[in-house]
Amino acid sequence: MMAEQNVIQAVMPGEEDGLGVEAMIARSYERYYATGLYDRRYPKHNARSMAAILEVGGKARSILDFGCGDGRYTLPLLHTTQAHVYGYDICPMGLSGLKTRLTNENQLDRVTLVQGPVDDYTQGNPIDLAIIMFGVLGHVAGRANRIAILRRIRTLLQVEGEGRLVISVPNANRRFRTEQREHDALRIAGTPEKPALEAGDILYARDNDGERIELFYHLFTPETLSAELREAGFGDIVMRVESVLSESAVTRSRLCAAADALLYPVTPLALGYGILATARA
Ligand SMILES: C[S@@+](CC[C@H](N)C(=O)[O-])C[C@H]1O[C@@H](n2cnc3c(N)ncnc32)[C@H](O)[C@@H]1O
Repeated sequence: MMAEQNVIQAVMPGEEDGLGVEAMIARSYERYYATGLYDRRYPKHNARSMAAILEVGGKARSILDFGCGDGRYTLPLLHTTQAHVYGYDICPMGLSGLKTRLTNENQLDRVTLVQGPVDDYTQGNPIDLAIIMFGVLGHVAGRANRIAILRRIRTLLQVEGEGRLVISVPNANRRFRTEQREHDALRIAGTPEKPALEAGDILYARDNDGERIELFYHLFTPETLSAELREAGFGDIVMRVESVLSESAVTRSRLCAAADALLYPVTPLALGYGILATARA
């Protein structure tokens, strides 16, 4: 019953601006990681996405994992590249989970964890690969705020001249259709639920044993993702389906991963569960 649930509220009074949403997201992810729900839903990285990262950035010397969480991609990157890896996130619990996982690693000098919110994601160091994996950018409210983040990342990449970006985002054609209809209707009626003010914005919740963890999400189409990347100055944008079945299915079940591999070649970009793009700075 709602009344008995512990609700991590999407937006607290007075937190409707971009910064307030950032604080709310950090708070919600504290619970998402602390309850173990995130790791149960997504126990490992998406193998195909990791292959796409290595395809463009396998030889990178310095990598930013923006919104690294508890390190689903940070650790595999440490294992498969020679790069220094910067893990940036606004959620202390995600970073502390990653720190725990790193205790068994013997190449700790190749990892720097940066806790946000700050504007300098790598403590002033240039990078030649940035990854923003599995919807991180979708948690940023306001197109202008997302483009500002992409521009900051591009500036870090431009120091090297050949910088590459790999990003994956939720596909509006596949995700949260009910919530999209509800928030579209509210916006059309002139009564949007803050902070879901712009087309593609929604509020949704994850349930964990009676606790509701509420989150803001901006959903993308291939066109809107491409437009935001271009506006931030990225070029050579190549998009593909991230997975056909849900991320949770393909990272939890070998059978689902095998089914996904069969469906992948015949699934058009517009119908992927997530959209993965690579781009050049
Ligand atoms: C869906 S998780 C993805 C985590 C990781 N990239 C992965 O694939 O498992 C989203 C992560 O983005 C982080 N995040 C959300 N908004 C952020 C922001 N504005 N800056 C940095 N990290 C952010 C959250 O704290 C959370 O750890």
